[in-house]
Amino acid sequence: MRAGPPDFDAVYRANPDPWEVGTSAYERRKRAVVLACLRRDRYTTAWDPACGTGHLTADLAARCGRVVASDGSAEAARIAAERCAGLAVTVEHRALPEPPADDLRPDLVVLSEVFYYLDDATRAATLELVDALAARTCELVAVHWDGSPDDAWLSGPAGQLEVVSRLAERGWVHRIHHDDDGFLLDTLTRGGA
Ligand SMILES: C[S@@+](CC[C@H](N)C(=O)[O-])C[C@H]1O[C@@H](n2cnc3c(N)ncnc32)[C@H](O)[C@@H]1O
Repeated sequence: MRAGPPDFDAVYRANPDPWEVGTSAYERRKRAVVLACLRRDRYTTAWDPACGTGHLTADLAARCGRVVASDGSAEAARIAAERCAGLAVTVEHRALPEPPADDLRPDLVVLSEVFYYLDDATRAATLELVDALAARTCELVAVHWDGSPDDAWLSGPAGQLEVVSRLAERGWVHRIHHDDDGFLLDTLTRGGA
């Protein structure tokens, strides 16, 4: 029986970079691979709905007209907002599957290291929301550790498969499956993106 996710606010209060996103070579490589796998040079609007410390969010801002980021932890949202100050990034405190405040039509969606922390109903609702919000042409990147966090509801590989299969059922096209040193990445597109 899994314990389920931690109190993320408490985790960030104890350590503002609990997964060493800013310092570890693994995380740096992961971000570089995410950016390298994007099909387009520029996007109008990215949605990063579990931005954590905002490191990837800030990198995405260099490729996007704007990034709307959010996190279920108020503390993470505060940290990410500080990191992204001065960039074309909006950060909200918002927990999936709650939609963003704006009438957002993202042409890029990033699910990075969050899907396995969502319970069955939230994962299903999140993918429904992605499909409903996505711009006519949209690309989604899912990237997760290839292990099974003790405090998550499912493993990284199982989560990746779920994202790919559920969005494929809704007409999204699976473009990239990348098996790297410690993480898995998949991209899907809709509408010929
Ligand atoms: C391992 S961190 C990953 C952060 C960031 N995406 C990255 O790759 O560096 C997981 C994040 O998911 C957030 N999270 C967990 N459940 C969430 C939910 N239901 N809605 C939004 N964010 C959530 C946590 O607060 C935490 O910041």
